[in-house]
Amino acid sequence: MQVVITQSAEQVAKLGAKHCYDLINVNPAAVLGLATGSTPVALYGQLIDLYRRNLVSYCLIKSFNLDEYVGLVPTHPQSYRYFMNHHLFNHIDINLKNTFVPDGMTAPAQAGEQYEKAIANAGGIDLQILGVGRNGHIGFNEPSSSLSSRTRIKTLTAATVKDNNRFFATDEFQPELAITMGIGTILEAKKILLLATGKAKAKAVKHLVEGSLSASCPASALQLHNNTTVIIDQEAAELLEHKEYYKQVAITTEQMATENA
Ligand code: GLP
Repeated sequence: MQVVITQSAEQVAKLGAKHCYDLINVNPAAVLGLATGSTPVALYGQLIDLYRRNLVSYCLIKSFNLDEYVGLVPTHPQSYRYFMNHHLFNHIDINLKNTFVPDGMTAPAQAGEQYEKAIANAGGIDLQILGVGRNGHIGFNEPSSSLSSRTRIKTLTAATVKDNNRFFATDEFQPELAITMGIGTILEAKKILLLATGKAKAKAVKHLVEGSLSASCPASALQLHNNTTVIIDQEAAELLEHKEYYKQVAITTEQMATENA
C-alpha cells in the first residue's frame, strides 16, 4: 500500500485524476470502478476538465459503480445512478451504455450475480476509485462484512444512514438497504485508489493503513491488495504514526519515476 499525503483536498483530486489520466493514456478502453459520496466529486471535476481541454477521451471507457440504494429508481435524485450522470457522465463523452451502476430495483437474489457477471465480461476492473466511510466502510460494506464478500444486498448501519441523511430532504424516504460490490469483488481490481479528505476520516484512515486487518474496518482489507494507493490530505492523515516514512517513500518514488522517464 502506498500512502500519499497531499497539502489539500484539491491536490487529492488532482493526483487522483492523474492516475486515471495515466491509465487512459495507456489503455483508452480501460474499465474504471467508480464511487459516490462527496469525496470523489472534485476528482470527477478534474476528469471533466481534462475532457474539456481535449486532453482525454472517455469514448471507449467502461465503468462500474460500487453501489446503489435499494428501492430508488435510477431517475431518483438521491440514486447513485443519478449522482453519476449529474457529476460526471453527462459532462464527458462516455457512452452511457458502457456505464454500469448496480440495479437497486432488481430482485435481490439476482442483482448481485448479474453485476458480477457484467464485471467479468468486461474483463475486470483496471482501476477502482474508493472513498471511505467514517466507520471504515468501502462501497456499502459495513463493519462485519466478510472480507471475501461479493456483490449483494447489505443493511446500512445507523451511523451510515445518519451520515448520508444530509443528501435527503426532511421526510424524504431514505433507504436502509443497498446493493454493493463485495470486498472480495473490490480486491480483484488491478489497481485501487482510495481517496480521503478531512478530519472526520482520520480515524478510518489510521485503521485502514496502520491498524489490524479486520472486518471491523472493511477498508483494512486493502492491506491484502498489491497495488493500492491511498491519497489523503493533511487532515485525514492526522492520526497516522508513520507520516514521515510515507512522505519519504513518495519522494523516492517520484525521483525514480523522473529518472526512468
Ligand atoms: C457512501 C458510499 C461510499 C463512500 C462513503 C463516504 O456511503 N457508499 O462509497 O465512500 O459514503 O462518503 P463521503 O465521501 O461523502 O464521505
